[in-house]
Amino acid sequence: MRVLLTGGAGFIGSHTALLMLEKGYDVIIYDSFVNSSRKSIEAIKSILDSTSFSYKLKTIIGDIRDSAILDKVFKDSIKEEKPIQAVIHFAGLKSVSESISNPLEYWDVNVTGTNNILNIMNSNKCYTLVFSSSATVYGSSNSIPISEEVEVSPLNTYGVTKVAIESMLKDLYHSKRNLWKISSLRYFNPVGAHSSGLIGEDPKGEPSNLFPFITQVAIGRQKLLNIYGDDWDTYDGTGIRDYIHIIDLVEGHLASLDYLNSKKSCLEFVNLGSGQGYSVLQFIRQFELSTGCKIPFSIQSRRDGDVARCFADISKAKQLLGWTPKRSLEQICLDGWNWQLKNPFGYE
Ligand code: NAD
Ligand code: UD1
Repeated sequence: MRVLLTGGAGFIGSHTALLMLEKGYDVIIYDSFVNSSRKSIEAIKSILDSTSFSYKLKTIIGDIRDSAILDKVFKDSIKEEKPIQAVIHFAGLKSVSESISNPLEYWDVNVTGTNNILNIMNSNKCYTLVFSSSATVYGSSNSIPISEEVEVSPLNTYGVTKVAIESMLKDLYHSKRNLWKISSLRYFNPVGAHSSGLIGEDPKGEPSNLFPFITQVAIGRQKLLNIYGDDWDTYDGTGIRDYIHIIDLVEGHLASLDYLNSKKSCLEFVNLGSGQGYSVLQFIRQFELSTGCKIPFSIQSRRDGDVARCFADISKAKQLLGWTPKRSLEQICLDGWNWQLKNPFGYE
């Protein structure tokens, strides 16, 4: 089965591409490389080449807003008699702070870009889509653990674009009920790396998320970690989140694709998280224990837009997809640290 991965060179896309290729999928990565490196694709190839495994991977450089290139990718595949049968749509911009300072860019890339993909899928008769949504759609919900039933109420432009895309998916699905198979996966906090340590998360500039910041402190690229608040209403005062190993997250995509392939038509919104919450201090302690590295920190005031706790109810994913996350916080620390040690400056 041929699958197009938009944003397939990025953090989540590259891990998904690798696992799909290992499973025998024919993969096309479509990426503008605006927030990723070509080296992630070289790394995927070197992992696969080391096993003398034969695989089918193409890379196309293009923007999701560029209809001409995108349409050609679909048409060329049809000409090759290997039509694209599904799209996993990762491409998009994901920084909360940037989305607030540059909202038009976020609306353009995330919403217009997705509209473009859907149009081109439609005109090329490809109706199966897995979309990268986010727990950010739930905003500051007090209903913990958060189930898919909770009303969406995003707190920033990034979250608003994810909600807008989900509305577009609903409208599309309802307009042609017997045609589309869509799952919108709401990720909680994907972290860690592939066990090879050859692909991983490579944030540009100073990381804004906790885990890459911790590993950069451990490797000496950052002096200390700022903890945003120790006065939250949690058992140790620091924020609680749901950290999911990147490979568990990817396995959720594969299960979702299998699910869509088994249906005539459907639209599902599904949480992907570990289902467990850990505080910032717990995470630091686990990292220190697993790696032997000391993480100096300093307590700062709360970060704008943060919430005390956020973790997923994953019963829908378990039931619907037959998927369950398997990797521990310790595994996350070990694999994420292995990637950072082997690539102190990421792909550069
Ligand atoms: P990433 O930035 O590593 O990957 C996104 C990829 O999309 C990059 O390779 C980038 O170059 C590409 N891209 C961006 N704009 C593009 C455009 N206009 N045309 C073509 N390619 C473009 O991010 P990620 O962490 O892998 O996230 C993937 C998806 O998952 C995003 O949609 C993000 O919003 C969503 N998500 C991520 C997280 C997270 O914590 N990483 C959490 C929730 C949701
Ligand atoms: C953040 C985004 C969210 C996005 C998600 C994944 C904000 C307000 N939220 O979520 O929209 O979907 O990333 O990209 O930006 N922390 C520190 N010090 C740090 C970094 C983080 O103490 O240097 C704390 C935070 O306050 C939080 C926890 O660590 O309690 C996790 O933070 P982070 O990794 O940024 O994830 P989210 O806040 O869940």
